[in-house]
Amino acid sequence: MPLARRALGLVGAILAAVALGGCALPAPPLPTLTPEPDATVESVPSIRPSTLDGITALSMARAGDAAIAIEPVYFDGVESFNNLVDSIALARVDQYLGDRAPAGFQVALPPDGLRLGDSAAAGDGLRVATNVVLASGSWLGVRMRAEKDGVAIAQWTIYGDGTTDAAYPGDALVDPAQGDALLAAAGGAPPESLGSLAIATDGAVLLASGDGEPARVPAEAARPLLSDAGRSVQDAASSGAAFVPVATPGAQHVPCSLVACVALTFDDGPSPETTPGLLDLLAKEQVAATFFVEGQHVQTDPGIVAREHRDGHAVENHTWSHPDLATLAGPDIEQQISSTDAAIVAAGVPEPTLARAPYGSAGGAVAASVRHPLIYWSVDAFDWQSLDPDVFVPRVLDRIAPGGIVLMHDIYPSTVAGQETIIATLRDRGYTFVTVPQLLSGYDLVDGQVYTCRGTVPSDAGPDCIGR
Ligand code: NI
Repeated sequence: MPLARRALGLVGAILAAVALGGCALPAPPLPTLTPEPDATVESVPSIRPSTLDGITALSMARAGDAAIAIEPVYFDGVESFNNLVDSIALARVDQYLGDRAPAGFQVALPPDGLRLGDSAAAGDGLRVATNVVLASGSWLGVRMRAEKDGVAIAQWTIYGDGTTDAAYPGDALVDPAQGDALLAAAGGAPPESLGSLAIATDGAVLLASGDGEPARVPAEAARPLLSDAGRSVQDAASSGAAFVPVATPGAQHVPCSLVACVALTFDDGPSPETTPGLLDLLAKEQVAATFFVEGQHVQTDPGIVAREHRDGHAVENHTWSHPDLATLAGPDIEQQISSTDAAIVAAGVPEPTLARAPYGSAGGAVAASVRHPLIYWSVDAFDWQSLDPDVFVPRVLDRIAPGGIVLMHDIYPSTVAGQETIIATLRDRGYTFVTVPQLLSGYDLVDGQVYTCRGTVPSDAGPDCIGR
């Protein structure tokens, strides 16, 4: 895409965000990507991702005047690793499209951008492919490789530990004080080779040397030059142990920095009259949603929230009896939240990590007394007001933007009746449906703080997604 068109798209996105009253949570900070690794050397044999449980390989692509194909590999349940993968891919996309420095780019692509599930276009354009270079014990290592018009331009390695939920770029496997010593031991490998450092199954450290074969530092010589994480990777690589997936990985990672995500949310249930029909539809359409439930209804119909969880939806806290929390004293607010958490847990569902205050109320003692981040919305359907899909569905479709959170209610038959059109239309536009926890993966959410969407505009536009 020509720069001018892209710039215009950004301005449009900023204007849209302002018109909506603000919808721009800045993206998580990018990692330091310097030095940029050499792409010319394959240093370790790769493992086919499809042969491993506990990791997920995805494809996303876009065709057009600037073809882009991204093929990431995710470590199920290790979000620090997955967000590092996304950051690297995103920085590459930015550099390709806008020719800005990688650290300056924190923009999710618009709905006409990448589509999850589309397979990579061959030939010209940008391609970021990923292969697995280590899968042993609790450690997964991948190499990401960028090609422009079929020519390799850069590569990185990333290692993740399923036990500690930590992720390390290749150069973090080296003791910071010993980088030069390692490069010297590798026969004068260039500094940029540290970013794609790999550790072979015999514990040797492999660095791209720029002349075809990787430079190799034997295990014993390399060991004192590695960081603690590097030595753990070395131990795992040389142990020959089988890969151990994360026991309870949670929901699948969706790269909401790279594809257009939307979170449909449903409040005030569960209702035995309307919620099961909505769950049937969501299952048929394979759409994940988020339910902000009232404790009093959970207590009456625990089986419905158990099914919500079983079906892959997020079940979160919408207080016990739907009061305006801003009118209550702190201990009463705490009671509204904690009793609802307890009812949800009693239904066999994991304890909520998020809450939504009735009426979007946020004053008084709310911020100090709700022990979850507060999730509000970027699009209010007003489905309760019209009780008419012909009114609220176009309202939602007109206002949605990538990273959006839609507020609706699963206690009205008319709301359920409108979902098929909303889902089909947004899917046609290229949206991927995610839960709120998936949408906000990578952000450090703070208890009592209000969040209304995931950002889709540059971070220097301000943190408008926070607060309201
Ligand atoms: Ni409500």
